[in-house]
Order: sequence, then structure tokens, then C-alpha cells
Amino acid sequence: MVSIKSAADIEAMRPACRHAADTLVMIEPHIQPGITTDEINRLVHEFTIQAGAIPAPLNYHGFPKSVCTSVNHVVCHGIPGDKRLKDGDIVNVDVTSIIDGWHGDTSKTFYVGEPKVRTRKVVEVARRALEVGIEVVRPGATLGDIGHAIQHYVEGERCSVVREYCGHGIGRQFHEDPQVLHYGKPGTGLALRPGVVFTIEPMVNLGKAGVKVLSDGWTVVTRDRSLSAQFEHTMVVTEDGCEVLTLPSRES
Ligand code: MF3
Ligand code: CO
Ligand code: CO
Repeated sequence: MVSIKSAADIEAMRPACRHAADTLVMIEPHIQPGITTDEINRLVHEFTIQAGAIPAPLNYHGFPKSVCTSVNHVVCHGIPGDKRLKDGDIVNVDVTSIIDGWHGDTSKTFYVGEPKVRTRKVVEVARRALEVGIEVVRPGATLGDIGHAIQHYVEGERCSVVREYCGHGIGRQFHEDPQVLHYGKPGTGLALRPGVVFTIEPMVNLGKAGVKVLSDGWTVVTRDRSLSAQFEHTMVVTEDGCEVLTLPSRES
């Protein structure tokens, strides 16, 4: 069941969404060769607690940390640890904050030092894939329209779209209906209405689309070990389009 959020609900979601976005602004200057993903986790955790917010990933279905950090061929749900980032790596930092019971969910893939040409390719295709999806969102557009636009763009760039993980409704729950697939057929699936709040978060691989989950039960990697990048926003369907809610409180 897809819930329609009221204007008051949207106002109530803004602080969590803004805080998640501000967390990415806070972390960006720390993404340098030599930092560990555990240090990223600690910075995110402390920034979140200091704001009176709750880091939604911590203990979510047993997830052991406060943020997901997915490096290079890790697609999503990477667990922070003692791994040091090195020049040329990429890392997706996926932040979900809870304030007053409402969730905001956003992620970005950062360059660590200077990227190689093929690294820049997959990251910029993933960045644009999210924009391409957002551009479709308006009342009457369908979820299939969003998925198709993303798939058409990404595959046209000779990259691939991960099928096993998707965007999602969000609100008082971290993951609500609907599922927002990043591939599909135009005109199929749910028609959007004002007040539907959801994420778009395409995972784009430089090689084939196949993924597997490591034995830790969380870390998703590309089967062919090709690089994978992802960007995510939380948005609400408005009367004439959409509003991205996970924007920072000031420009970085
Ligand atoms: N933030 C992820 C998403 O975009 C979900 C992470 S679940 C966790 O939906 F448990 F790994 F944190
Ligand atoms: Co997320
Ligand atoms: Co999400």
C-alpha cells in the first residue's frame, strides 16, 4: 500500500532529509587517501547524534554500523571497517537519518584523490542516472517510466543497471511501498500522485549487472568485480513535478 503524505507530513520529513544531506556535505572533505571507512562511520555517527538525530542503519535488520560505505566493486551495503581508502578509489556513503520518527535517505559516490578515466565514467553515469530518473517524476508518470528512463540512459552509455536492489517509499519507515525499480517499461506500474515520497538510487556497474552478497550477509559486490557507483535522493511528487527533499541547508 502506497501512502500519500500530507503537507504536514512533508514538513515533518524535511529535518531528517536535510540532516542526511548535510551529513554528506560534512563528510566530503574527510574523503581523502588514508581515511578508513570506520572513521567515516564515526564521523557520521557523531554528527548525527549531536544533531539529536538517529542513524537509521545502526541495528537495522542487524546492520552493525551507522552508515553504509561501499568501495570500488562494492555495489551497496558495505560495512565500515579498518580498510584504508587509497588514491583512485571511489566510495559511496549512504546516509539515512531519523528525526522525530521520520526518515531521510541520500547517498553520493566520492572520488578518493584522482580518479582514472574509467572510474570517472561510471561515477558520472551514475550521477546522471539519478538526475534522469528525477526528471521523469510528476503526477501521472509511472514507476515504469522512471525505470525505463534510467535503464535507457545507463545502457546507452554501455554501463549496466543492478536489478536486485531498488529505490523505495520512505517516511515513518525506512523502506515502504512502492519499490522503485531502476529498469522497466514505459507506461507500466504505479502512476505517481502528489504526496508520494520515495527514493531513486540507481546502482550502475561499469561491467555486467550481476551481483552477489558476501558471507557477512550484507556486502553486495559485482560478480565480475567491475566498479559500481550510486547516488540517491529522497523526493516527493508535487502538483507539477517533484521536489528533492535531501538537499543540504547550504551549498557546499
Ligand atoms: N540506505 C540504504 C537504502 O538506500 C539501505 C541501507 S540498509 C542497511 O535503502 F541496513 F544496510 F543500512
Ligand atoms: Co540509502
Ligand atoms: Co534508500
